[in-house]
Amino acid sequence: GAAELGPYRHYMQKEIFEQPRAVGDTLQDIDSITPELFGNEAYRIFNDIDNVLILACGTSSYAGMTAKYWIESIAKIPVNVEIASEYRYRDSVPNPKTLVVTISQSGETADTLAALKHARSLGMENTLTICNVQTSAMVRECKLNFITRAGVEIGVASTKAFTTQLVGLFLLTLALAQVKGRISEEKEADYLKQLRHLPTAISAVLALEPQIMAWADRFASKENALFLGRGMHYPIALEGALKLKEISYIHAEAYPAGELKHGPLALVTEHMPVVTIAPKDELLEKLKSNMQEVRARGGELYVFADNDSRIVNSEGMHVIRMPEHYGKLSPILHTIPLQLLSYHTACVRGTDVDKPRNLAKSVTVE
Ligand code: G6P
Repeated sequence: GAAELGPYRHYMQKEIFEQPRAVGDTLQDIDSITPELFGNEAYRIFNDIDNVLILACGTSSYAGMTAKYWIESIAKIPVNVEIASEYRYRDSVPNPKTLVVTISQSGETADTLAALKHARSLGMENTLTICNVQTSAMVRECKLNFITRAGVEIGVASTKAFTTQLVGLFLLTLALAQVKGRISEEKEADYLKQLRHLPTAISAVLALEPQIMAWADRFASKENALFLGRGMHYPIALEGALKLKEISYIHAEAYPAGELKHGPLALVTEHMPVVTIAPKDELLEKLKSNMQEVRARGGELYVFADNDSRIVNSEGMHVIRMPEHYGKLSPILHTIPLQLLSYHTACVRGTDVDKPRNLAKSVTVE
């Protein structure tokens, strides 16, 4: 009811602003990285496996896609990410040395549970879930687990569950890297320090809300939007587009920016806002040339940059500056403004933010 909402208009907004707390709670009892964060048998299992298969649906699948970038880069273990509803019905080549990872807020999504059982039926017994509900079927069915402490999520569009899943997946990356001997103690300590800084960093990003509301006023009259990211920010662009679709009913698509010229550039006109995730990283110069291609066709860019990106406000180029550099944790921080953008755009359009039409919080039937 209204009392629980406090100063917020919707549960979604409340849940977005709970993220410093949710992430802090998820990290609370963690003094050091050890495989036991995932269960007693984790050391043996992590030692045995030589690849990872991530299974999930919806927003949780984008957490999985982000984790692929982290695990392959830091732990050097090959990762496949599959949409649960596809994996369960297709012929695939099982490998008993696979760590099967399901990701689920509810732990009750029918397709994800069925995909897990399918993997097991193919002889893959090493199962782990990143889940927000300790008492769920998913946690019962998996040998290993990590419980995110987002707390109850009421808004149908997932927010704090997603960012805490990413925290759990980053911890998994570090634990795998440790067991495989692919990370130094110094580097591990440095990543742990970066994780501990997340609640403060998220709070600083939440303070950008007024600037994002100004963008939302412009987005509300659009019927299409494009989201661009590269590398580990591509899954975040996908999540940004999904959020906008889900709650504002604006058609949105995400592309890895290098694919622009292979199709979506044909859609770019002055009516197409293009949201771009552009932190200073190895791919920034390539991204900037992708942005020029958009500008040359009259597309309006809405860019999340940082101090060193050297991208400034100009005609057709709207820039919000992120407060810091976030290194490998950058996808977590860039999620926040995209949540706020879809939330405020939906508010301006007057949609039912917490219960968008045709969607359910937890899809427990096929
Ligand atoms: C529904 C929800 C999404 C969620 C997806 C997967 O579609 O609306 O927010 O990402 O299910 O749910 P799960 O509980 O498995 O993460």
